[in-house]
Amino acid sequence: MCGIFAYHGQQQALPLLVEGLRRLEYRGYDSTGVALANGNEVVRFRTVGKVGNLHTVLPSDHPATKGIAHTRWATHGGVTEANTHPHASFDGEVQLVHNGIIENFRQLKAQLSAAGITCTSETDSEVLAHHVALGLKEGRSPEEAVAAVLNKARGTWGLCVMFNAHDALVCARHGSPLIIGKGDGEMFVSSDPHPLASHTNRVIYLEDGDLATITSDGVRVSRLGGQEVEANVTVLDNDWGESELGDSPHFMHKEIHEQPDALRHCIAGRVERTLGKGHLGGMKLTHETIVQTPHVKLLGCGTSFHAAEIGQMLIENMARIPSVAHISSEYRSNEPVINPKALHLAISQSGETADTIAAIKEIHLKGGQAFGVVNVVGSTIARLCGQGVYIHSGPEQSVASTKAFTNMVAALTIFATQLGRTGNLSRNEGRAIMEGLQQAPHLMEAYFDNPGPIDEAVDLLCNAKSVLFLGRGLSAPVAKEGALKLMEIAYIPCLAYPAGEMKHGPIALLEEGSPVVVIAPNDHVKAKTLSAIHECRARGARIILIHEKGDVIAEEGDVSIAVPAIHPLLTPLLTVVPLQLMAYRAAVKLGRDVDRPRNLAKSVTVE
Ligand code: G6P
Repeated sequence: MCGIFAYHGQQQALPLLVEGLRRLEYRGYDSTGVALANGNEVVRFRTVGKVGNLHTVLPSDHPATKGIAHTRWATHGGVTEANTHPHASFDGEVQLVHNGIIENFRQLKAQLSAAGITCTSETDSEVLAHHVALGLKEGRSPEEAVAAVLNKARGTWGLCVMFNAHDALVCARHGSPLIIGKGDGEMFVSSDPHPLASHTNRVIYLEDGDLATITSDGVRVSRLGGQEVEANVTVLDNDWGESELGDSPHFMHKEIHEQPDALRHCIAGRVERTLGKGHLGGMKLTHETIVQTPHVKLLGCGTSFHAAEIGQMLIENMARIPSVAHISSEYRSNEPVINPKALHLAISQSGETADTIAAIKEIHLKGGQAFGVVNVVGSTIARLCGQGVYIHSGPEQSVASTKAFTNMVAALTIFATQLGRTGNLSRNEGRAIMEGLQQAPHLMEAYFDNPGPIDEAVDLLCNAKSVLFLGRGLSAPVAKEGALKLMEIAYIPCLAYPAGEMKHGPIALLEEGSPVVVIAPNDHVKAKTLSAIHECRARGARIILIHEKGDVIAEEGDVSIAVPAIHPLLTPLLTVVPLQLMAYRAAVKLGRDVDRPRNLAKSVTVE
């Protein structure tokens, strides 16, 4: 949700900034801008649209060795050039890029009006630039001027400020991520680790309430109140370097096909086959803690919520501990009852989703404990929880999440066996699940070798007014995930329902030829799902059936897509894959921007 990149060093800044923005573009892509400073002058270039559009306004070359850049996901104000960052102060002394929301910007704006300063954009961010400039005029240093306005601001920010008459860049973080990369004689600032990996592996994660002053050869970090803090340098995991598109046409295509290897990374060293369980080192739970756990709550948004719903069922099934999945954005506002003995799992690919962060803060506030189930190493959720697991999917760049979903499900499966083996789950059953999990990457590969009639399914979907997705048990969240994928990247209206509930409402939508996607693996609820298929067919619907290979249920589909058979508790790992492929190919067929679907962003860092 908005990407910030900045550079202060010896090299020409412009190509580094553009490359940085390109790698951050999945965070937002409504408009982009760059400001450069070379000691004598500051220049600014902004344009509406994606980073690819920037070349229309940028010079081919510029000597500046310092600059700030931004790719925007609009919150306040439409997608216009005036609303594009960087924002300049009234006197041209200050350039500012901001990610987050300034809740009291109207009040700050009124103070500017009283001082005779008019804003030129509709954004909440611009007011900060003017206030910083006013602070400088009052004789404050750059750090003091930034701290002064942030001490008056309410809301969230990751921001970077550049000055006409001062060498340093000043950055601050409160609720929106910001990472500083330390090179030799050069410093980088980024909203996430991806763009830093090709420059340096030494990074400093700013904490909420931090202010950092950056020159080409150093960084000083302090709290907004002024006291200096130690800037802890973390060494970035090598994985973060592998985010190139390579030969793939889109990141989504690449990431779908990376799932077998991503899954291997997730389960490596975590399966204790002979004991019939898995072990997640970051979930440090004693036997006593587990048996005393009253319930488990799993929190997430979007795809992560669907993984949470599957986790809920797996934990209840294997461990017999009451579990419930919550949409993070609903959690805090519904006055949740938080039991300090309960386990809370915060599930997030990016580790930066503001709604999930808010839920964790609520849990902490009420004395509860939260464990992260996160992909991005060192992300806010990982650090805020301080305990939990990494799902090890590697960088996920496409806005539509794929390999993170399957790894979340795998990590939650392992966790469910870890809980389950303390009581309910037999060693034999646990072993069967662990063996299935170890086979899952091969089975995914076998599916990719023979993906079935995906294009026939896509033909049915692309012309549809709407598509209904049905599944029961573990396949109900898979149906939701399939619907989300198709809706978000192909812009086809989709509705997902538990198959048994279809007759209580969505059946009214069915007409002759309506496509219905049914996920019906060979589990204990298949027979009931079959009834829903018959009810749909009786109303003229065309069934796209996802089933297990060799199952006679294949005859029930107009288009039947087989996935390899697997343990009944692991079917989501395979049944979701054809749904991802269907969404991908439908989006390509319809000419959509697959990796950057309209209006969406990968990391939603505002509530
Ligand atoms: C956004 C993305 C989704 C993602 C959701 C949660 O809405 O577009 O793909 O599932 O955020 O993100 P997280 O990083 O917390 O998993």
